[in-house]
Amino acid sequence: MITRSLIVGTGSYLPERIVSNAELAAKVDTTDEWIVERTGIRQRHMAAEGELTSDLAYNAAVRALEAAGIAGEDLDLIVLATATPDRTFPATAATVQARLGCFGVPAFDVQAVCSGFVYALTVADNFIKAGQTKTALVIGAETFSRILDWDDRGTCVLFGDGAGAVVLKAVEGEGTSQDRGILTTHLHADGRHADLLYVDGGPSSTQTTGFLRMQGREVFRHAVQNLASVVHEALEASGMSADQIDWLVPHQANQRIIDSTARKLHMDSSRVVLTVDQHANTSAASIPLALDQAVRDGRIKEGQVVLMEAMGGGFTWGGALVRM
Ligand code: ACO
Repeated sequence: MITRSLIVGTGSYLPERIVSNAELAAKVDTTDEWIVERTGIRQRHMAAEGELTSDLAYNAAVRALEAAGIAGEDLDLIVLATATPDRTFPATAATVQARLGCFGVPAFDVQAVCSGFVYALTVADNFIKAGQTKTALVIGAETFSRILDWDDRGTCVLFGDGAGAVVLKAVEGEGTSQDRGILTTHLHADGRHADLLYVDGGPSSTQTTGFLRMQGREVFRHAVQNLASVVHEALEASGMSADQIDWLVPHQANQRIIDSTARKLHMDSSRVVLTVDQHANTSAASIPLALDQAVRDGRIKEGQVVLMEAMGGGFTWGGALVRM
């Protein structure tokens, strides 16, 4: 028998305010047609003034805990993925912990931008597999609206705010792909490409928060390649074929990137969970947001296999194969 991490609850939270492409086009030199055609995005949610990443994260966490039937005090680990923390420190995870009541257990942030959730899930899974944790909360939460340059139409139309969370519980499995739980995870980074996607500020360099900068076309090219390769790595490691995957829950950056990955897996759109049209790119929050939506509307069912994949600034990228 081996220890597996089972997803026992999912939750998500989106700020109330919805900003349509048309509303953006009124203040940015862009059009609804351009945004929809190039990205698939139709609208995004935006945090209210004073609404912080930790608020989004906390709301998503409460819903995931409710779904799992677990109290905050029962957690023994919190890992929170974000590139837009409330403050430089303490970690946003610690702020969330203070509100959940599981005082004393480890709580820390993971920073891998859009791959953050897959990174955080992998970290928590490894804590569980190592026997150090029994019940973990993994959150992806972002307020990217705060790091957008509204004079840069090539980036400001692409992102939104939101949060998603999962509760993991240690269970015993046979060690086969028929086990429920996280079957395999794969992480990568290549820091040589930092200049293609970055924020031009930070405590050590400029002492400012800075704004997101991106060479979109280059990022697109790398994303398509890296995602195809990590998806195959996950399939190979688990001894599964693409037709055994029930659902692709990809990072939601761009519909064209998602379509490209699905095409390579010969998965038609009915097996792909798509939220980029409604949420835009919420970075580390996008996968748990999409996962929660498809669990709650009944598409993703117990026992089904879900493939998650993401690529983001760093570059970082990763994949996780999970039997729900
Ligand atoms: N509205 C109207 N026109 C625009 C806009 C806009 N919002 N933004 C750029 N344009 C114009 C450009 O100025 C350019 O005009 P020009 O030809 O007159 O110079 C033209 O559109 C084409 O610009 P490109 O940047 O070459 O457009 P492209 O087809 O590459 O699409 C996009 C841009 C959507 C950013 C695309 O490259 C992309 O999605 N890249 C991936 C980036 C991404 O997803 N990043 C997220 C983080 S990483 C991740 O999550 C995977």
